[in-house]
Amino acid sequence: MYNLSKYKIKDNPVILGIESSCDETACAVIRGREILSDCIISSAGEQALYGGVVPEIASRAHTDAVDEVVLTALDKAGLAASQIDAVAVTYGAGLLGALLVGLSFAKSFAHAHNIPLIAVNHIRGHMAAAYLEKPDLKPPFITLLASGGHTAVLHTKSETEAEILGGTCDDAAGEAFDKVARVLGLPYPGGPNVQALAEGGAYTIGFPSALIRHGDGKTFSYSGLKTAVINYMHTAEQRGQQVKKEDVAASFQCAAIDPLVKKTVDFALDKGVQTVTAGGGVVANDYLRKQLASACLSAGITLVLPEKKHCTDNAAMIASEALNQYRAGNFAPLSVNAQASVPLK
Ligand code: KG4
Ligand code: ZN
Repeated sequence: MYNLSKYKIKDNPVILGIESSCDETACAVIRGREILSDCIISSAGEQALYGGVVPEIASRAHTDAVDEVVLTALDKAGLAASQIDAVAVTYGAGLLGALLVGLSFAKSFAHAHNIPLIAVNHIRGHMAAAYLEKPDLKPPFITLLASGGHTAVLHTKSETEAEILGGTCDDAAGEAFDKVARVLGLPYPGGPNVQALAEGGAYTIGFPSALIRHGDGKTFSYSGLKTAVINYMHTAEQRGQQVKKEDVAASFQCAAIDPLVKKTVDFALDKGVQTVTAGGGVVANDYLRKQLASACLSAGITLVLPEKKHCTDNAAMIASEALNQYRAGNFAPLSVNAQASVPLK
């Protein structure tokens, strides 16, 4: 059992959050839900040379960047390390070597300053980004989560409790964006490039929708949609047909995103929940943001959408989720280890 009496527990603690699960080394300082600093050093440019994230490059880049990003975040917050009340870090899911860099740094920081360590589930971090947008946001709300590794609609019942209403039975939405980007010849990172291409195209191709009805909590499927786009491109190539890639991107984007928007609003209406939030890299997509805003408006639902920079990986969301854990007294021992995968709950 964690010895809580060791620490002075505050209502609005200053939390330093660290994120290093993939290719962004990030550090943010928050007080309550107020962001005091929010810094990021990305190795995405280097990863783009290889068409995706190379774990070894990510780990080395985190090792190079972690000191600088933490010192910059403290400096921008105008605080000394001794003024931090708790340190939070992503312990999973993610690339093990990458996670270990942030986790080791955070453990040393907690030990050196005699403050609690909070181990954050990255996915719950994405879900907690909404509190940064609206600091007085209170559950219950419906959360759309769409990232590179997860896709689900959840019923967030309290700061620490959520029920999955509908998930994907195969790939995540972001994964489909990345694979489709590749077949369209677009560079890494795929999602924003598919979006940019789709802006010059129209919905003209009837790709299969990502919406399914298994009745077992599986609501979405992205593998069939992804394969349909790949087959479409390969068939056109074999036949020597010209393809308007802008239209392929736009048609794929509609098939991928419309079901997410529809089911999020349907679940909110079913549950009688008045507020919808969203998080994860795919929520940075302009088409999704526009469609979700308009569907929520029509249904009379309040939408709390994090800024785009808080949808993709960042440390402010890790600190935000850490505040939920801090208030619940969920502190981690210094023996906590990194985990490549962590269940979504
Ligand atoms: O949440 P995130 O930054 O990392 C994970 O936790 O997975 O999500 C990354 C995913 C990638 O698949 C990326 O292609 C996608 O989010 N993404 C987008 C956009 N920006 C990032 N997908 C569609 N449109 C975007 N604008
Ligand atoms: Zn993420």
